Amino acid sequence: MSGKPRAVVENLPQYKPGKSAAQAAADHQLAEAIKLASNESSYGPLPSVLKAVADGAELLNRYPDHRGEALRVAISEKQGIAPDQVTIGCGSVGLLQQAFTAYVGSGDEVVYPWRSFEVHPVFSAIAEANPIMVPLREQAFDLDAVAAAVTARTKLVILSTPNNPTGTVCATRDLNNLLDSVSDDVVVIIDEAYLEFVTDDSVKDPVAEILPHHDNAIVFRTFSKAYGLANLRVGYALGHSEVIGSIDKVALPFLVNGVAQAAVLASLEPDAEKELGDRVAEVIGERDRVTAKLLELGWPVTPSQANFLWLPVEGQAGPLFQRLESKGIVTRPFENEGLRVTIGKPEENDRFIEAIGPK
Ligand SMILES: Cc1ncc(COP(=O)(O)O)c(C=O)c1O
Repeated sequence: MSGKPRAVVENLPQYKPGKSAAQAAADHQLAEAIKLASNESSYGPLPSVLKAVADGAELLNRYPDHRGEALRVAISEKQGIAPDQVTIGCGSVGLLQQAFTAYVGSGDEVVYPWRSFEVHPVFSAIAEANPIMVPLREQAFDLDAVAAAVTARTKLVILSTPNNPTGTVCATRDLNNLLDSVSDDVVVIIDEAYLEFVTDDSVKDPVAEILPHHDNAIVFRTFSKAYGLANLRVGYALGHSEVIGSIDKVALPFLVNGVAQAAVLASLEPDAEKELGDRVAEVIGERDRVTAKLLELGWPVTPSQANFLWLPVEGQAGPLFQRLESKGIVTRPFENEGLRVTIGKPEENDRFIEAIGPK
């Protein structure tokens, strides 16, 4: 072996992305397969966004604007906050990594409900932090237990709402109660990667309802899901300028490329927002249709507020995943816990329903 990685790195598993549709088709000798495994959008880019990408590509020889000034201003105007309360990153997962770098040192505690987004334990391990994983209650977050888990050593609390993979949300009132109970020294991340798919009216806009009351709260969002730009890796954070400033300090230079910045700016134009909003509405309708169909077929399904469904099938997760893959449908299993399936276009969802069949 060359070099000597830190012990925590040696012990880390290699990140394994889900199998591509092409690979699944080849593995099972199928003409084609579909991928419902990564909570992406099944819709291709809008023509206006493709044009912005092509135009942006003319400047490939130049570094992009490091701070993404035009993009920050556009986001701040949309959110009704100051530009210094906004930053952008390499996906919201990149911003999460920056938050760890900025706030978490060796031996510090990071509190998050579990099961949740799989990067939380990985980032905790890299930071040599002590992860405090608070068990879910009926597939949802137990925020009283989260509050009780916070100690003087806690640096970050991470709450993904909707949660990946269970699709459950936290009511805004409960988030405010949690924030009231923790010290201002703890940064509370409200990760809203799937916000655009939420219809539950206990969820209010945190920019109006949380950030003005809690300087230690920070909201992460992404252009990967509802905006369909997963390949370009752009996320954004909203919060107090001091927290935003700390997260910014640890960013790589020129982190978000110029083509991605141009694509996001084009996606924020009113016509594009309207078209993207129609797609989101279709996904929400499909989510409810597929949920009803699965329940009718006898499958357990957790009511979802995201663009995916969680089937808590426990020990059946692995075999069910294999059975679906052999029929050309790639989903995401969580061994002995459940199966997560992304909501695609209506024809993809029909194919999934037909393949899964009755329980
Ligand atoms: C809960 C949650 N947060 C954040 C992300 C990261 O999204 P991105 O880095 O593409 O913005 C994901 C992606 O699957 C997610 O499920």
